[in-house]
Amino acid sequence: MHSTDYELLLAQAEAITAGETDLIANLSNLSALVYDTLADVNWVGFYLTKAPETLVLGPFQGKVACLRIPFGKGVCGTAAATRTTQHVMDVHAFPGHIACDSASNAEVVVPLVVNDQVVGVFDLDSPTVGRFTEQDAEGLSKLGRFIETLDWA
Ligand code: SME
Repeated sequence: MHSTDYELLLAQAEAITAGETDLIANLSNLSALVYDTLADVNWVGFYLTKAPETLVLGPFQGKVACLRIPFGKGVCGTAAATRTTQHVMDVHAFPGHIACDSASNAEVVVPLVVNDQVVGVFDLDSPTVGRFTEQDAEGLSKLGRFIETLDWA
């Protein structure tokens, strides 16, 4: 299986966002960084809470994706509703999974919580069942904790 140096990825994430306060600019570059760094991923990006209990598509890398996801629906909505990282080996076994791209088979979704509000989620898809390991889920959750420290105001 692929292994990612999450300490290095975190350092790079800090470096490319340092000194920039524009959230969309930062999330755009972060999605590009992670998409380029991780092997065997086909979608990396953000859904942002733009309406009550609703995730709206944000900056991402990958194919055209679903626009709006209610909290509680699919993997992203479950991450938002439960405020816990979702680590899914096979999305087809996940009740209510939303198939934006039929090529996606594994997924990690990290909720982003700022001032006790779910401001969005960080979503990664892979075409390979079981692609994401526990190490990935932990590393990506840590990256999520860093993303929460960006300027969300
Ligand atoms: N599969 C996700 C939807 C978002 S796309 O993967 C980009 C879900 O079930 O929430």
